[in-house]
Amino acid sequence: MSSSQTWKKVAWRSPSNIALIKYWGKYGRQLPRNPSISMTLKNCYTETEMEYRFGNVSNGPVLDFRFQGKHDEIFAARLMHYLDDISSEKPFLRNLEMKVSSSNSFPHSAGVASSASSMSAFVLCMLVAESEIIGVEKDEEEFLKEASSFSRLASGSAARSLYGGFVIWGESAFIPHSSSKYALPVTEVSPVFRTYRDAVMIVSSKKKTMASTRGHKLMEDHPFAQERYGQARVNLSRMIEILRNGDQMGFAELLEHEALTLHSLMMSSIPGYIEIKANTINIIDRIREYREKSGVPLAFTLDAGPNVHILYPEEDKEEVIYFIKHQLKDLCENKKWIDDEMGTGPERLI
Ligand code: DP6
Repeated sequence: MSSSQTWKKVAWRSPSNIALIKYWGKYGRQLPRNPSISMTLKNCYTETEMEYRFGNVSNGPVLDFRFQGKHDEIFAARLMHYLDDISSEKPFLRNLEMKVSSSNSFPHSAGVASSASSMSAFVLCMLVAESEIIGVEKDEEEFLKEASSFSRLASGSAARSLYGGFVIWGESAFIPHSSSKYALPVTEVSPVFRTYRDAVMIVSSKKKTMASTRGHKLMEDHPFAQERYGQARVNLSRMIEILRNGDQMGFAELLEHEALTLHSLMMSSIPGYIEIKANTINIIDRIREYREKSGVPLAFTLDAGPNVHILYPEEDKEEVIYFIKHQLKDLCENKKWIDDEMGTGPERLI
């Protein structure tokens, strides 16, 4: 182990992702109750720069964390809690000092989930620091698998941000080597899905009523929990099949069914709660009406909040953007929406 004692620097950009089949419910050490599939985004990402020094402290880790240039004690405390949780697997952390500075490409208040991009970007920096300190370099496949696994321990959905395209986290008989511990890219994908885009309608940028972590917890005593986990497995197999055979209308139907199921699980939790807003429903109604009339296979999904993600193929971009500008934009908060597309995964910057 090299005791460098000088400051070194590493930086990564890591994307956000939107789940098609949802992870909702977990157990043990951040293991999902059912497998999930996501699409990795391109324009919604976190950039994290880490300066690190090894060997000057023995009771570390020592962390100085800034978000968009300002100290962020709440996020720093979350990272410290995470680092404490992994300390037995990563003993080098005890001797590590870090100055971390992170920023998101999307507005902080956009209501877009940022834990997937921010946690995966942090973990990528930490693992590069480790391999430089220890002097062992892993091959890319092993490195990404470990990054996915350690990202999962920070935030479940972050496990899926390590790869581009469509990504599975959790076990499926149809995807060899799939695992609950880390995510893997889904490689058998019909050309029709390879250019999918995501337009995010910002209905509200306010904090959600319930943090996702609490939402997962409410699944433990949920009256429909077992039904849901079984259904999610079936839906996952159907989604894998659809991605392979290119059935775009089948995709739309299943995607929307998953989104509405997620929110109905929140409403039927004990206590029940509602994250969607009136304009979430108004947007959904207009999307369905437009699909029916135009035949364009666009479809909506929701993460745990009120914002609506519209997934659609590149070839319909002009028509869909026209539709958004004329029929949906006015239903968004300050007319705000994000034009995104499928991305290729994280990128090392320094
Ligand atoms: C609805 O990954 O945010 O977006 O593991 O507690 O950090 P923690 O939860 P998180 O949950 C994401 C829930 C979801 C569905 C999904 O992304 O699959």
